[in-house]
Amino acid sequence: MPYRINIQPGNLSLVVESHETILEAALAQGFRFPYGCDAGSCEVCSGTLTSGSLHLKTKDIDVFAGDDNSDDVLFCLAQPTSDCTIIMEGVLAPGELPMIAVSCQVVEVTPYASDTSEITLRLPAGKKITFHPGQYLMVILDEETHCAFSIGNTPNEERLIKLYVGFANKDKNALRLRSRFVAGNMVKISLPHGNCYLENPTSTAPLYLVAGSTGISQIKSITEQCIAENHPRQVFIYWGTRSSDELFLHDYFLQVASTHPNIQYTAVVSESDKQWQGRTGLVHQAMLDDGHDLTGAEIMLCGSPPMVYAVLDDLLAIGVQKHQVNSDVFDYAPRD
Ligand code: FES
Repeated sequence: MPYRINIQPGNLSLVVESHETILEAALAQGFRFPYGCDAGSCEVCSGTLTSGSLHLKTKDIDVFAGDDNSDDVLFCLAQPTSDCTIIMEGVLAPGELPMIAVSCQVVEVTPYASDTSEITLRLPAGKKITFHPGQYLMVILDEETHCAFSIGNTPNEERLIKLYVGFANKDKNALRLRSRFVAGNMVKISLPHGNCYLENPTSTAPLYLVAGSTGISQIKSITEQCIAENHPRQVFIYWGTRSSDELFLHDYFLQVASTHPNIQYTAVVSESDKQWQGRTGLVHQAMLDDGHDLTGAEIMLCGSPPMVYAVLDDLLAIGVQKHQVNSDVFDYAPRD
């Protein structure tokens, strides 16, 4: 009989058959779970049972949450006898990367139009730090102020990270960030964050990447992953801004689309703009107007919560399934 194990503090969920140990099930399902001997000796797999009950095989002991021995359970021996909640530090879900906080150097600041800059950071040497293209980092201004930025490139051997930061907003944090993002400065960051990345990079499903404003940073990272892995899936990029001078990566995406037949790029400007000869209106409306068959497609939305939920509603209304759509917004600004 299967039981559901909730693992804290990561709030992970694991299904374990009654004849399996929690460690066996975790490893079989691709979780990273601290362990050593797998035989009840080293105690590396020790954690706490906070609800439910377990049976410790070989010791032939039942443990119930709240018992004296429930603080020190060896999960390599523990077979569930009910749904449980356990506390075990260091457990990572399949594909999840360990989060780390480090200081890194601002290598270069390249200004673009519309008060947006490309910030190049270099991660410290000697530490294995990686991320999934599409994830974001937090710049730690102080203990209480963490600012999220999508990473605009893929992991690389030079340990470089690109951010695209808009400074048009003159609030206090924007001013603090501008003073930190100066070549030669050190900034503290934590990474990786976010669940909006390609869970199956080898999927052949058409990929629709829809961004508003600096949300294009996340799309750039995923596009570079698709190019680096030389995968032939069809990729449709839609980028919307208010005015054409906010299209700070326009030339980059034009060049990508012109050299990769499987990648299409469409820029859409929402406010009237005499210099702009291209598409106008709302970015997702442009995608819908293009009449794509979205059956089975994978769709990523990168932008503000109002933009993302407006696009989601329009997609659901034409029959797109919720599971086809992913966005960081669903995690940090849930609607329900
Ligand atoms: S892994 Fe050694 S006691 Fe569980």
